[in-house]
Amino acid sequence: MNSTLSLSPDRPVAAEVPTRPVILTGDRTTGPLHIGHYAGSLKNRLRFQESHDQFLLLADTQALTDNASDLDKVRRNVVEVALDYLAVGIDPGRTTICLQSHLPALAELSMLYLNFVTVARLERNPTIKDEIRARGFGRDIPAGFLCYPAAQAADITGFKATVVPVGADQAPLIEQTNGIVRRINAVAGVPVLPEAQAVIPETGRLPGVDGKAKMSKSGGNAIRLSASPDQIRAAVRAMFTDPGHLRAEDPGRVEGNVVFTYLDAFDEDKAALEDLKAHYRRGGLGDGVIKARLEGILQDLVAPFRARRAEFARDEGHVVSIIRQGTDRARAVTEATRREVVEALGLFTL
Ligand code: TRP
Repeated sequence: MNSTLSLSPDRPVAAEVPTRPVILTGDRTTGPLHIGHYAGSLKNRLRFQESHDQFLLLADTQALTDNASDLDKVRRNVVEVALDYLAVGIDPGRTTICLQSHLPALAELSMLYLNFVTVARLERNPTIKDEIRARGFGRDIPAGFLCYPAAQAADITGFKATVVPVGADQAPLIEQTNGIVRRINAVAGVPVLPEAQAVIPETGRLPGVDGKAKMSKSGGNAIRLSASPDQIRAAVRAMFTDPGHLRAEDPGRVEGNVVFTYLDAFDEDKAALEDLKAHYRRGGLGDGVIKARLEGILQDLVAPFRARRAEFARDEGHVVSIIRQGTDRARAVTEATRREVVEALGLFTL
């Protein structure tokens, strides 16, 4: 039986072969997580920790690829992101939380993989293209940034993960991972690495509360998982609705209306929501009503996260020990993979 006990981080860390399908996913440690992360992937991860051997990677070395001048931020947010995981209900007894910079096998696999991908292919990756544009790098793209898809392939394959729950923007990275996997397997002549499948949530990426295309950790347009009741209230009050909907009597637009986009993501009562949309379209429903509904839903969502987070935050040493134990287990798993890949490729072994 695949008992959940076998995933407990306080068990010995060596030579443990996972018997459940493996999940690897992670987050850059550049800022606290927000409700977009919850809708986009944390919710899936909560579900998966019941059925899979799940690893969550605190991606601090990937965070460096566009934050090399702000190491302080990258370091500080390791514990913040871990706290967000614990706050939403990630259970370190069932999910292994680990720190990327302390898994040297991933760095070594990254170096190997860079030989199985071309610069042209890296430059064609649509996510990388968007991110280069958004960051305004121009010609001054950090080499680590351009190459991070190879490092992400190392993250995923280092754990032999077959399932990767991520937001839609990450799909091209999984595709590129699989390209590298196929090349490695072809050169090795044996299927040493499995391909991975992205699990993308049905709800698309949430826009920022300001209506901008995406909610971002750093953009100041997010509702954090640790937001206070006042911050939630203020964010919902300031949300864009339909600029043409000036009086409650007027018919209003639902499409592109940020409040409805959020209701679509967070309101569990879909029938009531459809009624509300019909009423809004027809006219006679003020923005205050839909905002009050959304605010109530978000307050109820975040309140238990905030409470659990405060509980864990009281003992930072405990959080660090959760990360340390998870990283110890992850180190054994990724080192075993590194060895297999090196041997399968036919490099000299000592
Ligand atoms: N690129 C992801 C992000 O920006 C973080 C990440 C690092 C990741 N390594 C990963 C996601 C491996 C999935 C799998 O949030």
